[in-house]
Amino acid sequence: MARCFVTRRVPGPALDRLVAEHDVDVWPHRLPPTPDELRERVAGVEGLLSLLTDTVDEALLDSTPGLRAISNYAVGTDNVDLDAATRRRIPVGNTPDVLTDATADLAFALLLALARRLPEGERDVREGQWVTFEPDRNLGAEVSGATLGIVGFGRIGRAVARRAEGFGMEVLHTARSGGTPLEELLEHSDFVTLHCPLTRETRNLIDREALERMKPTALLVNTARGPIVDTAALERALHERAIGGAALDVTDPEPLPADHPLLQAPNLLVVPHVGSATVRTRHKMTEIAVDNLLAALAGEPMPHQAN
Ligand code: DGY
Repeated sequence: MARCFVTRRVPGPALDRLVAEHDVDVWPHRLPPTPDELRERVAGVEGLLSLLTDTVDEALLDSTPGLRAISNYAVGTDNVDLDAATRRRIPVGNTPDVLTDATADLAFALLLALARRLPEGERDVREGQWVTFEPDRNLGAEVSGATLGIVGFGRIGRAVARRAEGFGMEVLHTARSGGTPLEELLEHSDFVTLHCPLTRETRNLIDREALERMKPTALLVNTARGPIVDTAALERALHERAIGGAALDVTDPEPLPADHPLLQAPNLLVVPHVGSATVRTRHKMTEIAVDNLLAALAGEPMPHQAN
């Protein structure tokens, strides 16, 4: 029986399988453990089930030499120092595939909501501003026939492309080889949606220069990771109407404080990192995260290992 720490309550019955085999400590609070609390709780554990809100870095790994397995409850692993874990021969699991459709659906929901100005329309109705049918009010952008630029053409990017075809859009996408160069994609797209992982190369990929390349009517959607977009540059681009608008499921910082200046920018829709937030997907993520941890603690390969 191994000691395990689970950094938050995760939905679905699968966690019971971990509890049945191991000595499991689950962080009971709504907010994640602070770095100090995390270090205290992982001392002496062999298995860690972490979330994207937990920084698993070299210092944390140094403080817990007995750690044998890290299972990250996310497809993204940018919160874990994969190289440091690999050097210590610690497998790092992630939860790919199961959240592809949910995340692609959310990217499309954001795209449609922003294109058709749904938040504004809803506000009008609730505030009594909807006084009659007005031919020139609440006019949005046509999605059908528009060009969608997909940055990052992995599982989620491809799932978004399938949806776009159903909506009669033209699709451009970047790719490690053979795709449309980013500059060209930015210049030609009516909508740009981000689906690349956060790495050294993609941090601030959408900076001031990239935003200036976009059409002044173009809409940006980010359901990937906040730091792929330079927040200050986005804020400025929205205020200056350099782009048409942005819809974000992820932000930098995350969460975005309610008084953050970005929230004062026009044509901005923000939701709280809910790309994978369907009952089915989150339960499946728990299953995979538990499977990964159980396998590694039993000395077997993780079904989904990221390093
Ligand atoms: C992920 O898995 O990386 C998402 O951002 C959260 O589910």
